[in-house]
Amino acid sequence: MPEISWELFHHQVAACALCPLHQGVRNKVPGQGDVGAPLMLIGEGPGQVEDEEGLAFVGPAGQLLTRMLAAISLPRDRVYICNIVKCRPPNNRVPTEEEAAACRIHLRMQTALIRPQVIVLLGSTAAKNILGPEIRITRDRGRWFERKGVLFLPTYHPSALLRDPARKREAWEDMQRLRDKLTELNLYPDIYGGTP
Ligand code: URA
Repeated sequence: MPEISWELFHHQVAACALCPLHQGVRNKVPGQGDVGAPLMLIGEGPGQVEDEEGLAFVGPAGQLLTRMLAAISLPRDRVYICNIVKCRPPNNRVPTEEEAAACRIHLRMQTALIRPQVIVLLGSTAAKNILGPEIRITRDRGRWFERKGVLFLPTYHPSALLRDPARKREAWEDMQRLRDKLTELNLYPDIYGGTP
């Protein structure tokens, strides 16, 4: 791999024309947060507000995500948040496999720069893209998956929780699992305390 850096990453996303999505955007949404975080969260793709602001998860789904993290005492600025695709798909449709595949070089580079130990996959698109097409979010959410030493937790996308609040109980269970794992691995000792 060539020398990678955040400068190169942001330049490559800004210049990217690997799929047609770049044609319709107001802003690309590379992702943001603590670049040294042990925890990364990956969503699907920018929505309208994200496209307007150039930031991931700042619209209604993002506000719910902020509250979900706060419920386990995690300030948003202590995690890194991004999406499978960095450009808003028209009318918020699900990104195609080709679009997700084209964008993978960007996700790979940012994951290599952050080197998170735990990754939360928000929704079916993120879970299938990262863990494989056989993943079913309703069946596999809340289970830990391990790939190359990194732990992955698929859970519902916050937009799905806004549409169907009955799923919030399961999402809350997933957040508790996340908190327990971060505690066990001692990844946020200032928040959860050290392991005994
Ligand atoms: N939904 C996503 O998947 N990502 C965002 O950034 C916002 C909404």
